[in-house]
Amino acid sequence: MRHDPVNIYEYEAIAKERLEKGHYDFIAGAATDEITLRRTREILDSIVMKPRMMVDVSERDLSTTVLGEKISFPVMLCPAGNHGAAHPDAELATARAAGKADTVMILSSHSAKTLEDVAEAATGPMWFQQYFFKDPELTLSMAARAEEAGYSALCMTLDAKIVPKRERNMRNDYVGPVSPNYAHLGLGTHSWQFAADAPAGPTDIRDQATVWSDLEWLAGKTKLPIIVKGIMTGEDGRLAAESGAKAMIVSNHGTRYLDTTFTTIEVLPEVVDQVAGKAEVYLDGGIRRGSDIFKALALGAKSVLLGRPLFWGLAVDGEAGVSSMLEMLRTELEATMGICGCPTVDSISLDALGGMSPLQQLFNKRDAGLL
Ligand SMILES: Cc1cc2nc3c(=O)[nH]c(=O)nc-3n(C[C@H](O)[C@H](O)[C@H](O)COP(=O)(O)O)c2cc1C
Repeated sequence: MRHDPVNIYEYEAIAKERLEKGHYDFIAGAATDEITLRRTREILDSIVMKPRMMVDVSERDLSTTVLGEKISFPVMLCPAGNHGAAHPDAELATARAAGKADTVMILSSHSAKTLEDVAEAATGPMWFQQYFFKDPELTLSMAARAEEAGYSALCMTLDAKIVPKRERNMRNDYVGPVSPNYAHLGLGTHSWQFAADAPAGPTDIRDQATVWSDLEWLAGKTKLPIIVKGIMTGEDGRLAAESGAKAMIVSNHGTRYLDTTFTTIEVLPEVVDQVAGKAEVYLDGGIRRGSDIFKALALGAKSVLLGRPLFWGLAVDGEAGVSSMLEMLRTELEATMGICGCPTVDSISLDALGGMSPLQQLFNKRDAGLL
């Protein structure tokens, strides 16, 4: 490519050339046939927006709040393990880029740098992501450690208690390093069991027996607000809010755990409906364009989050790569809002989207004998 990347897909193309194949496949890949991974883009691309004329959009305000925290635009950084696969500065670089963009980063407990070092490098609000562990004391002590380091919310990932089948990783005999956050537990040196002879690792200590009352228990034990990640049905959204979650991420983990689920944008309206304002609802999965952010907001999300693109930005140019990628998304969103007649994020509503094309509606009416 003889020019700088002009969109996220071009960042990925450059990153693919630079990354070791095992790492690239781990980041880009998903569960089994990767059908939902492909559908995620198809569905997002199939939703159309409605341009609106003669609205004063001379000043556009992209800012919003998440759990009371003001962010400059409705894009946060997903928790994602081992940014060290893409750049030696790893999460230190990503956290600085998030601060520069004036938004929240959620640090994965599987970070390549310690949660304390990342907190120290960060210049903006940071949330911490972890799991329910078999040992409840570990669940509480990790949360307390994050609170002590300055993280202001706790993101509990609910959809990762079963080891998924990821065939690219199996073919590559992929193993990732164990995060230094888990070093004191003596869990060996590798965090994934895709290699046939890999030792037990941090994924084995996650509790597969958790139920909603465990969330209530945790909410009663920590002062940090809890966000749950992995909600894919309206009913789970309602139960999460009733069990103490202050916010939730509609997510299928980038389709990395189960294939042939709905895409996140398809289930978002149902979740927003059943949560009924009792908790904030965010969305991740396939967000690659400003227009994707606009569509998610129009369907009721308060913010979106980015996953894989963080690695592409890091691989291309470290902190500066993540920063310029975020700015590109901001510019795209700002233009989309302007053309659709929405000067603020609160003015983006379902009215801005169209489902069935006007022609299809006409043919349906004709076929039903209504014309
Ligand atoms: C390489 C990689 C590592 C990830 N690690 C974590 C993790 O440690 N914890 C977590 O909750 N989600 C993790 N995720 C899932 C992301 O938080 C997010 O749900 C998903 O990547 C969003 O989709 P997108 O990549 O299409 O933006 C990871 C995703 C990727 C690609």
